[in-house]
Amino acid sequence: MRMRKKAWAEPFLKENADFVIEKPEIWAGHWREKLACQRLRIEIGSGKGDYFTKMAAMNPDEGWIGIEKEHNVAAVAAKKALAQPHEHMALIAQDADQLSSWFAKGELDVIHLNFSDPWPKSGYAKRRLSHARFLKQYEALLNPQGQVIMKTDNPKLFEFSLTEFSRENWQLREVSVDFRRQPHPEDAITEYEQKFMDLGQPIYRAVWQKKAI
Ligand SMILES: C[S@@+](CC[C@H](N)C(=O)[O-])C[C@H]1O[C@@H](n2cnc3c(N)ncnc32)[C@H](O)[C@@H]1O
Repeated sequence: MRMRKKAWAEPFLKENADFVIEKPEIWAGHWREKLACQRLRIEIGSGKGDYFTKMAAMNPDEGWIGIEKEHNVAAVAAKKALAQPHEHMALIAQDADQLSSWFAKGELDVIHLNFSDPWPKSGYAKRRLSHARFLKQYEALLNPQGQVIMKTDNPKLFEFSLTEFSRENWQLREVSVDFRRQPHPEDAITEYEQKFMDLGQPIYRAVWQKKAI
């Protein structure tokens, strides 16, 4: 997501260090205590924060952590989250490449991938958030019943992801090639999702669970 540089973004992220966690590794294994929750969800590539802020408001008993590498975008998400009750929320304004050091093994319940960058050129496939190199990290960080939930507008990324999860022996629990055809009030609409819905494009969605041990 490209956005013009915002002069206020960096100072705002620093001023709100209670919410925008600069050293997430310190909390590895203790996120549930920090966010006073039983269930813990993260959204990787949370953009301007529409999804995790809305979902956190709808599910106040769960912990929600947004992860967004672009600081100009992360600052918008932080502003949005801080304008609502946010004791059960946090933001990590860093690249998810370091994910494994931020959480303990089995600490997460759900990982959300919403409208992830597709990286269409095959030379960049490793950067896709559903590449096996990420799936191995997700597997370690999720609890035994843990799930990855993906939504995308991009059929090629969806197909790639289905193949990649299958190769890594994840169990496909739910799949839809037109998720918004039916109402889903339990699932918030992301900023990108709204744009594609306005264009009449289908939303692809899948839920995977870790392989049976
Ligand atoms: C296409 S936008 C989608 C934003 C939002 N999820 C939505 O659905 O409206 C993808 C976002 O993921 C972020 N992103 C991509 N790769 C990332 C990574 N490795 N770590 C953290 N954020 C990432 C990008 O900076 C961008 O803001």
